[in-house]
Amino acid sequence: MELLSFIKNRVSIRNFSDEPVNLEALKRILEAGRLAPSAKNRQPWRFIVIREKELRSRVQNASFGQNHVGTAPVIIAACTTNVDYRMPNGQLSYPIDISFAVSSMMLQIEAEGLGSCVVTTFDEREMKDVLSIPYLMKVVMLLLVGHSQEKPLPTEKKAFDQVISFDHW
Ligand SMILES: Cc1cc2nc3c(=O)[nH]c(=O)nc-3n(C[C@H](O)[C@H](O)[C@H](O)COP(=O)(O)O)c2cc1C
Repeated sequence: MELLSFIKNRVSIRNFSDEPVNLEALKRILEAGRLAPSAKNRQPWRFIVIREKELRSRVQNASFGQNHVGTAPVIIAACTTNVDYRMPNGQLSYPIDISFAVSSMMLQIEAEGLGSCVVTTFDEREMKDVLSIPYLMKVVMLLLVGHSQEKPLPTEKKAFDQVISFDHW
């Protein structure tokens, strides 16, 4: 399938089935994150893969009990190993670097016929405690991976002309 078709088909999944995620597919998904671009190629990330049920349940609790967090068979905690580096434009690099990696993984997830959802609604201090994350590191977002019970309809997006202009704002 054409890449744009995967992008068009992707939709956040919050109704995961019990079906496990194939290990080889999971490795390809993680590989897509590992190979993502980052500012100065610093690759300031660590991806913690959580599959064990009891741990997933603790991650769910740290995510204010959200059901889809606990039902996803795989949770990837996308963490940063550097919270300080700013790019020449003054912006912090880590949220952008991690977003590129997660975005690459989301496309591979789609290509594997699986579903994903980004989750940022969690108590970071509690999450760090659950995942034994060092004091100076940060959990930036969770990426839920699994098979959807039923694929939701695509969400509405702004029109091309509303968000794109050529040459000037
Ligand atoms: C930065 C970011 C944070 C998000 N946080 C959450 C979240 O905490 N919980 C959740 O269920 N979905 C979360 N999402 C998913 C968005 O709600 C979803 O991408 C958006 O509604 C558009 O729907 P779509 O992904 O189906 O296109 C997040 C997405 C992004 C990009």
